Amino acid sequence: MDANKPGFTTVKLPGNRVANVPEDIVIKLPENSPVTDDRLHLLAYIPWDDKYLAYIPDEYTDFFKFVVPHLGARTTDVHTALSVSHLAELMSLSNNQPIDKDVLYVSVILHDSGWPMMEPSEIADSLSYNSVEAYSPQAMKPKEMHATLGSYAAKKMLREYSGAPELSEAQQKFVRDLVYYHDQIRPWPEKPEPIEYLLLGDADRMWSYTHENFWLDTIRKNTEPAQYLENLRNALEDYFLTEQGRTIARRLVGERAQEVAKLTES
Ligand SMILES: [Fe+2]
Ligand SMILES: [Fe+2]
Repeated sequence: MDANKPGFTTVKLPGNRVANVPEDIVIKLPENSPVTDDRLHLLAYIPWDDKYLAYIPDEYTDFFKFVVPHLGARTTDVHTALSVSHLAELMSLSNNQPIDKDVLYVSVILHDSGWPMMEPSEIADSLSYNSVEAYSPQAMKPKEMHATLGSYAAKKMLREYSGAPELSEAQQKFVRDLVYYHDQIRPWPEKPEPIEYLLLGDADRMWSYTHENFWLDTIRKNTEPAQYLENLRNALEDYFLTEQGRTIARRLVGERAQEVAKLTES
């Protein structure tokens, strides 16, 4: 493949492998990692940049800035900002259902705060599958653990934070539960699930379909862009928890298809 396609740049990977990614996305590999070279691609990441703060609504910026120093692993900081970026549209497509907006935003901001508490090898294990569904058995344990650790981290941060939005005790408990159950490995204990749980799940899942993570995941999951696009397209209808999520994801798949076509066209 042409390594110098207009609009694309290359990322050098161990074993003389080279990946093509759009030139506006910065992708790095960790230095001095305890993870062996054959698994290093699993830890590729997009470094934090303050430009991602633009995705956070003003009323949640202070809280996001309080939390983001605790999200520096597995591209969790960028992932969290982009997950927040889809909430306004997810809510507007929710047919005027009552939604606790503060709980929703705060839980999305905190949902992956467990990742930085884990070892690099556990984080690598959590990415050892090549679509967006069907986690490998190796990925299940760290995924479960990050949700448990995240609920503790959420409790601590909510206690320590003293700005807006102010959450009641009941809202804080709701946020902790949302973090604990967010990955759907453990089912939410009641039916129907609250709308905040469903929209958090879909905001989280939308990350796979974003410009940034689509290309990052072609590296982390060692999958050709055209194949990964196909995987995402095939997974879409079952992957999302709400029709609102599917609506947005279908649009994002179209955008990713255009990018892949730009790379692969002769
Ligand atoms: Fe998560
Ligand atoms: Fe997440």
